[in-house]
Amino acid sequence: IAVMILWACLGYLLGSIPSGVIIARLMNLGNLRDIGSGNIGATNVLRTGNKKAAAMTLLFDAAKGIAAVVLASIFAAEDAAQLAGLMAFLGHCFPVWLKFKGGKGVATYLGVIGGLAPFLGLVACGIWLVVALISRYSSLAALVAAGWLPIVMAMTGYGTLFLLGVILALLIYARHWGNIQRMKAGTETKIGAKA
Ligand code: G3P
Repeated sequence: IAVMILWACLGYLLGSIPSGVIIARLMNLGNLRDIGSGNIGATNVLRTGNKKAAAMTLLFDAAKGIAAVVLASIFAAEDAAQLAGLMAFLGHCFPVWLKFKGGKGVATYLGVIGGLAPFLGLVACGIWLVVALISRYSSLAALVAAGWLPIVMAMTGYGTLFLLGVILALLIYARHWGNIQRMKAGTETKIGAKA
């Protein structure tokens, strides 16, 4: 149990690093809260017009998820890795450093899934990319990818990851509530459109 608590804490701490906020500040892109959706993720960093900063945010946020699960699976076991991944996701969404007001977790989600099961990570990235290219909505791409992944897990025999996939999908839907309302109202911003 002590091992599980340790990896839960390490996962949370890794996930809670607000890379978008740090990168935007270091590159003088202004306060992300005042830009676009106000979110701290790569999609909103892109609304500053700085593609490099957005790419760096995407990679760093995904790396947090990968690091949490890979370190836990090296030094502990699969269940600790799954817990560390869940906590990294929660750390990104509710970071203590930002008064628990964090991001929506999509990049970290992709890192967690990819770190635990590279094939599923590729599937999730693939679904995200296809939906994003067709719709130009980052949020819709995330919702479709997270929604489909548990189904893919069930079909391909990733039974042990299924529960985590469902929990993360539900959390991603909850975090995108505002985006869902904006899509219904037709006011959601497309990828690449500046704030
Ligand atoms: O990863 C977050 C994305 O799905 C939506 O971001 O800034 O459009 O709310 P945003």
